[in-house]
Amino acid sequence: MSDTANDYQGVATMDKISSLAKRRGFIFQSSEIYGGQSGAWDYGPLGIELKNRIMGFWWKEMTQLHDDIVGLDAAILMHSRVWEASGHVENFTDPLVDCKKCKSRFRADQIPEENLSAKKCPDCGGELTDVRKFNLMFKSHIGAIEDEANIVYLRPETAQGIYVNYKNIIQSNRMKIPFGIAQVGKAFRNEIVTKNFIFRSREFEQMEMQFFVKPGTDEEWFNEWKKRRWAFYEKLGVKMDHLRWHQHGPDELAHYARDAYDIQYLFPMGWNELEGIHNRTDYDLSRHSEFSGKDLQYIDQETNERYIPFIVETSAGLTRTLLMLLCDAYDEEKVVSENKPGSSEGTASGTFGSAGASGSADDWRTVLRFHPAIAPITVAVLPLMKKDGLAELAEEIRNELKEDFATDYDQGGAIGRRYRRQDEAGTPFCVTIDYESKDKGSVTLRFRDSMEQVRVNRAELAERLRKEIKGDQRIK
Ligand code: GAP
Repeated sequence: MSDTANDYQGVATMDKISSLAKRRGFIFQSSEIYGGQSGAWDYGPLGIELKNRIMGFWWKEMTQLHDDIVGLDAAILMHSRVWEASGHVENFTDPLVDCKKCKSRFRADQIPEENLSAKKCPDCGGELTDVRKFNLMFKSHIGAIEDEANIVYLRPETAQGIYVNYKNIIQSNRMKIPFGIAQVGKAFRNEIVTKNFIFRSREFEQMEMQFFVKPGTDEEWFNEWKKRRWAFYEKLGVKMDHLRWHQHGPDELAHYARDAYDIQYLFPMGWNELEGIHNRTDYDLSRHSEFSGKDLQYIDQETNERYIPFIVETSAGLTRTLLMLLCDAYDEEKVVSENKPGSSEGTASGTFGSAGASGSADDWRTVLRFHPAIAPITVAVLPLMKKDGLAELAEEIRNELKEDFATDYDQGGAIGRRYRRQDEAGTPFCVTIDYESKDKGSVTLRFRDSMEQVRVNRAELAERLRKEIKGDQRIK
């Protein structure tokens, strides 16, 4: 489901995002020195920090802030019967066509109808094959013998690990319906077409929560979870006019779903799915009960009622959320002048002029305006000069901050260039150490978004940063 990019007004493009991601160490192509492995990506030093922050934010939201939700980390390799019960062996397919001439491969539902009916390749005009069903699960074998009895699948969603543990968790943790189980982990899909950077990958991560409810209350919980998941993105500080709901029509609904809504984000290539909220009914537990022969009914201890719970699922892509945040935070801005650090008490005065990032008074900067609680580096410590003990003092201050914040230290090049590097990394705060820091014990605190600079006493710095992070409700 992707509309055209016509609605998009931002300055980000996927090319700019992927080149910044590589340049600053967020994301690299997998196995790049061998020509790359398509659909697989490596998360560099800033990428893994950002991914962990998003995951932590989601985990806190789902578990710490909800008394009725517990966590799980199930194995990726599961019994192959799980995927028969879930319907993935039979139904988890995409329609595939190949061009006999140029050998391009397409998802039949993603090429123009006229090409499909005329069996004409949209790229070269060559003849297309008939449409075939292509199962998206990666298949392998457990043990030394490669036969049908040893088939194992790489999980295409994390959800099934939750369903097969639902009884364990009720028993071990005395959970009472309604309750939820949250999980974050890798999922694998042999996608026919991967494009738009990490948007559709073959190996990716999901953040899923399955909420078990009494039949008849499912609609109410479905609406409740729609509200809560929308509020999550508000809290994350993303541009809310870049989010919208999309309800699945009858031909889009997954085989297990009674109702489903996607939260779509306006990516540079158009509106696309970010997260799905699904009413999965009692399909999953009924099927696992049937295929495993185990009774998966819930027994209400107070009323003695027995039933198979309905499941309301919230399923977000972790890596797709990361891409969304990169797009959302990306900005380019013309900077006429920027205050020079360390020149006076209070707001620093003076301009960079030739000391600016590129040596000119008129200068463009690229900036990632991440929420400070999500930014991979929270604070960078920069000595104005390496000499006269400023570098040593800066390292000392960085060590003081390390315990509580994700820090970086940079002493290379003109201060303006260092600010620009941190802007591109999305670092919300820079602390500059200058001669006044030595003499009077104060530092310059520079804010990424406004580029405003204020002097702060070293002893009050950590508290000030904490306040700034807590007080920031939105990116801008
Ligand atoms: N358990 C339900 C489920 O997996 P889905 O709509 O297929 O539902 C949920 O996937 C989310 O996982 C999507 O909204 C998207 O964020 C993410 N996702 C799915 N396929 C992906 C892929 N190939 N690459 C990256 N993220 C993907």
